[in-house]
Amino acid sequence: MTAVAPPVQIGQLPRKRRGRWSWAWVALSSLAVAGYFTGQYAQGTLDSLAHQHVGLAEDYASRAWPVQLAFYLHITSAGLSLALGPWQFSRRLRSRHPLVHRAVGRIYLASVAIGSVSALVMSLFSSVGLLGFFGFGSLAVLWGWTAWRGYRAISGRDIPGHQAWMIRNFALTYAAVTLRSWFGALILAQIPFVHGTDPFPAILREAYAPLPFLCWLPNIVIAEFMIRRRGLPALRITTRPEARPARPAGRTTADSA
Ligand code: HEM
Repeated sequence: MTAVAPPVQIGQLPRKRRGRWSWAWVALSSLAVAGYFTGQYAQGTLDSLAHQHVGLAEDYASRAWPVQLAFYLHITSAGLSLALGPWQFSRRLRSRHPLVHRAVGRIYLASVAIGSVSALVMSLFSSVGLLGFFGFGSLAVLWGWTAWRGYRAISGRDIPGHQAWMIRNFALTYAAVTLRSWFGALILAQIPFVHGTDPFPAILREAYAPLPFLCWLPNIVIAEFMIRRRGLPALRITTRPEARPARPAGRTTADSA
């Protein structure tokens, strides 16, 4: 008998290809940010890096050792989660090597747990004060919480719920990339209006100020759109429990919040 190839649906191929390109972009940008921004702190002590004005070294070099410990725990664990996260969305890896998906997933969740607790500590000492505390602090809590929901969903064999929570969670992990993209864009946007002898410290300050919220709020909105478009359980805000449709067997509460 001759096998007949299924007809290619109009619009299906470009969408698939677009999906692959977007995934490749997310994976490459994640690896680049995880490698570069974490790697720069491996070039010396915070004191020596502070003299070279590397990243936030000047802010953290003078902090007490528990804060410095939180800093190092954060950049290594958050860097690892950013580098590992994209691979978990590869359908090929998931179907061909489910054990690898599971092992990498455990390492990812452990690094998010360490990364979010240490980020919460760091948000108390943020270089942008209260704005940093509220912006980065709420990101840290949501980051840990969405990881926990993703873990709980898969423990209850709720695969659609797991996928939805992990899309939300990685959208928050990806805040590390969007933060740096917004930072660059906001610096460039100010250049035409620059005046004075040394405007750059003020430009950097202005560009950094909205980032504690701007780095993750759009990501989580986009993640929710992606979840709806894929037909996965979206967030529902409801005050009337009787209005909820009956949950199919095998599903956990992970399909609603
Ligand atoms: C998604 C949850 C995250 C939260 C809540 C968070 C929070 C923070 C906070 C509060 C700071 C200090 C900022 C300041 O003092 O103004 C910081 C710095 C830093 N974070 Fe995160 N972060 C997260 C994710 C990540 C990820 C995924 C990476 C991976 C590369 C990362 C890498 C860094 C680095 C390298 C710094 C030092 C600043 C720099 O050199 O750019 N963070 N983070």
